[in-house]
Amino acid sequence: MKAMNNLKVLILDDEKQFTEELAEFFRNTGFEALIANTGEEGFAILKREAIDLLILDVRLPGINGLDILKMVKSTYPGLEVIIVSAHGDMDTVIRAMRLGALDYLRKPFRIMDIQIAIERTEKFLLLHQQIKQMEEKNSLISKNLEEKIDRHLIGASPQILEVLDLAFKVANFPDTNILITGESGTGKENIARIIHFSSNRKDNLLYTVNSSSITDSLMESEFFGHKKGSFTGAATDKKGFFEICDHGTLFLDEIADMPLTLQAKVLRAIEEKKITRVGDTQQISTDFRIISATNHELDTLVDEKKFRLDLLHRLNTLHIHIPPLRERTDDIEPLLYYFTEDFSRKFNQQIPRIEKEVIRQLKKYEFPGNVRELKNMTERAVILAKGNTLSIDDFPVKSKPVTANLPNPASMNLEKNETEIIRKALQSSDFNQKTAAMVLGISRDALIRKMKKYNIRIKRNEDPS
Ligand SMILES: Nc1ncnc2c1ncn2[C@@H]1O[C@H](COP(=O)(O)OP(=O)(O)OP(=O)(O)O)[C@@H](O)[C@H]1O
Ligand SMILES: [Mg+2]
Repeated sequence: MKAMNNLKVLILDDEKQFTEELAEFFRNTGFEALIANTGEEGFAILKREAIDLLILDVRLPGINGLDILKMVKSTYPGLEVIIVSAHGDMDTVIRAMRLGALDYLRKPFRIMDIQIAIERTEKFLLLHQQIKQMEEKNSLISKNLEEKIDRHLIGASPQILEVLDLAFKVANFPDTNILITGESGTGKENIARIIHFSSNRKDNLLYTVNSSSITDSLMESEFFGHKKGSFTGAATDKKGFFEICDHGTLFLDEIADMPLTLQAKVLRAIEEKKITRVGDTQQISTDFRIISATNHELDTLVDEKKFRLDLLHRLNTLHIHIPPLRERTDDIEPLLYYFTEDFSRKFNQQIPRIEKEVIRQLKKYEFPGNVRELKNMTERAVILAKGNTLSIDDFPVKSKPVTANLPNPASMNLEKNETEIIRKALQSSDFNQKTAAMVLGISRDALIRKMKKYNIRIKRNEDPS
């Protein structure tokens, strides 16, 4: 920040003696002072120098000082002006202030008056600078984030494009709660960030809470805050997540891990948009949007009475499902290129060439850890790569040969065998339902119906027998 005693002052007044005396005073106080005795001189200096403060006599010969003030303010909006007026000319003073003058001095004046006016100006300019810096910092932060978001969601498959499309759509409905589901590493947090930063809540907080990382006993006070002294350890009043996120977004990651007792309280907070701090009676209004995420089957948890159905309904006003990477193999190639470039840049090494075989094999791989696994794999490959080429040996994937292992007719049971054939077809098509349906010679809908009927889920490490 610019030190205040470096302020550059221009004194524009036709009385030579007055300007000299005043300049002298400013210099003695540690300012840099310049003098102009005519309007032309003044404007020439303003053009040349970065002036912070202008002391302007509004009674210059041949020109209306208020016109100068107007011109100065429109050409140099950041320049502060203190006007000098004759005693008793309150009318001019008022008009000058309306035109944006910061303060006024009456002639003849005492040194005290100038000192006070300058102190006021200094304070004002300091605040102004601070505000400007904060604004710059903020726009820098959001610009950084926006850049990050743009660069970080990579994908070419129709499925991921659909997810993105939905994300941008719901961003425009800033009060709608959203549930994001998908296996671990599919990019749920990425999508949550995209929604927040594309919504009109973006200038407020996106706060991520992972229920599984908070001890149960602290849960309530973390979410709702507490009043000082409400329990041992509550040394001060504290805001909880709901209050911190006022006008922002609360991202509840791994929502399935939220204990039942808390679920009831969270439900009430969502319904009333009001919370009460632990140990307090007063209700506090707060305005938040909840985006929650899970890689669990919430329906199953509801059946098992581990998750409240009413809360589920509140959370998934809109549901976004991110399919596993193996079901959107079109994304593998662009992701691989992106991560390869990104890590090469990070490690300061040349971007390697990628052998075609790598992509061919990766497309066959199951990716139980989804995009996260591909990312880690790529990092490792970039480090290990020999020469300047990534080959399949740099990736820990082994393609499994698929054999059509049909059952022996002696043990034929239609239902059992159908289940098995469907599983095999899914496996051989890298769990792509469309391909599997094609292999089986049935429609995708029929396949999905059969999968439901036989309770076949596409899951990693599932024993296909
Ligand atoms: N489409 C994508 N483009 C670029 N990077 C991605 C994409 N999807 C995921 N990633 C990256 O993969 C990693 C895992 O993503 P993220 O943390 O969002 O997954 P998640 O679904 O929240 O997983 P978990 O359920 O384990 O929390 C992150 O580093 C993320 O940046
Ligand atoms: Mg996550």
